[in-house]
Amino acid sequence: MTTTTFILILIGAGVVALAGIIVVAARRSESEGAATPAELDRKAVKADRARRARLAEAQAEGGNGGGVATMVAAPAEFDDDPPKQEISSEEYGVTRRKFFNRALTAVFGLFMLQFTLASLAFMWPKLKGGFGTPINAGKVSDLKAEVLVAGSLVPKFVPPAQAWIVPFEMSKLKGSSFESVPFVVAGGESDGVGLMALWQRCVHLGCRVPSCESSQGFECPCHGSKYNGHGEYSQGPAPRNLDRFGVSVNDAGELIVETGNIVQTSRSKHFTILYPQGPFCV
Ligand code: FES
Repeated sequence: MTTTTFILILIGAGVVALAGIIVVAARRSESEGAATPAELDRKAVKADRARRARLAEAQAEGGNGGGVATMVAAPAEFDDDPPKQEISSEEYGVTRRKFFNRALTAVFGLFMLQFTLASLAFMWPKLKGGFGTPINAGKVSDLKAEVLVAGSLVPKFVPPAQAWIVPFEMSKLKGSSFESVPFVVAGGESDGVGLMALWQRCVHLGCRVPSCESSQGFECPCHGSKYNGHGEYSQGPAPRNLDRFGVSVNDAGELIVETGNIVQTSRSKHFTILYPQGPFCV
């Protein structure tokens, strides 16, 4: 999901929530024509006052009959209180409390929607391009020429894959900690020299591990873990060899680094390459 798509989804969600609030407000304004409870109360008070005034008037007329007390029958309308009116929910319409409750629910729903979409966007796997997907590191023949110069190891760093490409003699595979690990080395069928892709991340606490030309290995600047030129553990607090990615060669003779396929191997009992071959860098 691109950033533009994500922003468009957020805008769409905002528009939907806004439309919901507008619909609720419109319903409320429509229902304002109906009597509110306060209006109904005022009407009832008015009617009661008028009724009492008429009753007082009728009694006053009856009391003017030549000093003789006369019983005046109250009009039938005063016999009983008028029945109380039931107020249906339609008459109530959308009250202020309902409106604010709905608005609050809509805002909370919008927030949760945005949070969910942001979480999904964060966790969404990259299906094409970037770390986590297959990365084309270039022609195998070119890579071999770059990483092995006059018998010296010159690891090539491939930034999109966060990987060091190193050469590996296929004859050293047997008996090593990589022997039964599929896709750990590729491209060595013709000349006996394959290629490995070592993840640059230290397996101790995740620092970036640079290569060291003089020792012909990799040395972590954080806590001093050291690995040989094939990423095999040598010294320091690291618990295993450097992790590496599955590799393959496509029909065009290019090395494909499967950065979604991380291969872990335990510390090697026997090194597959001499180490150190000179002074350490760290
Ligand atoms: S992170 Fe590399 S040795 Fe600690």
